Amino acid sequence: MTTETQLLNSNSCLISPAIPESGFPKSSPLKLGILASGSGSNFEAIAEAINNQKLNAQIQVMIYNNPGAKVISRAEKWNVPSVLLNHREYKNREEFDSQIVKTLQEYDVEWVIMAGWMRIVTQVLINAFPNQIINIHPSLLPSFKGIKAVEQALKAGVKITGCTVHLVDVEVDNGPILMQAAVPILADDTPETLHERIQVQEHKIMVGAIALAASKNQDLSSS
Ligand code: GRF
Repeated sequence: MTTETQLLNSNSCLISPAIPESGFPKSSPLKLGILASGSGSNFEAIAEAINNQKLNAQIQVMIYNNPGAKVISRAEKWNVPSVLLNHREYKNREEFDSQIVKTLQEYDVEWVIMAGWMRIVTQVLINAFPNQIINIHPSLLPSFKGIKAVEQALKAGVKITGCTVHLVDVEVDNGPILMQAAVPILADDTPETLHERIQVQEHKIMVGAIALAASKNQDLSSS
């Protein structure tokens, strides 16, 4: 067995900052609104963590923009209300974001989680939830921003890539980094095999970073 496969088989990877065994200091239950465009495996990881009491939160609503997205069945499974907001039916990004804000407010959301949300967001959404919007991206930012981040990493020939959870600002895949995980690239990786391994780590840091962000936020508000 090569060192490479040992590393993968033991499922160890580098996550920074580390997620403490006992979790981050508990905040009051977080009211999450999830934005998702596709498969929703990150949605599922959050729902599972809440169910296993690893995350003190409740998913108030899941908003999706692609009719027929797989994430809908995941929301049904977890009894989370879902709302379709199809960006194709809005005049511009701002109008679309205004409707998102309205929906999130109707569902009493505090933290907005972009879990595979394939839309560029505007100041309209950011102003409504200052420092309370979280995104996940399949690269070690600031490398490989934008679409096809996994393909970009393979093409660049880097030997380590990974994933990043960060707070959202108006620039795409920018904003303060909350947590990252490193994933080694193997010689025979395809975009699919590499993305699959990155997603295993995404699910860990997505949950860890939400808890971390919430605990930091509580520190700030109690100081
Ligand atoms: C993830 O790889 C995420 O980093 C990117 O979109 C993908 C969404 O996956 N932004 P899923 O829908 O959560 O399975």
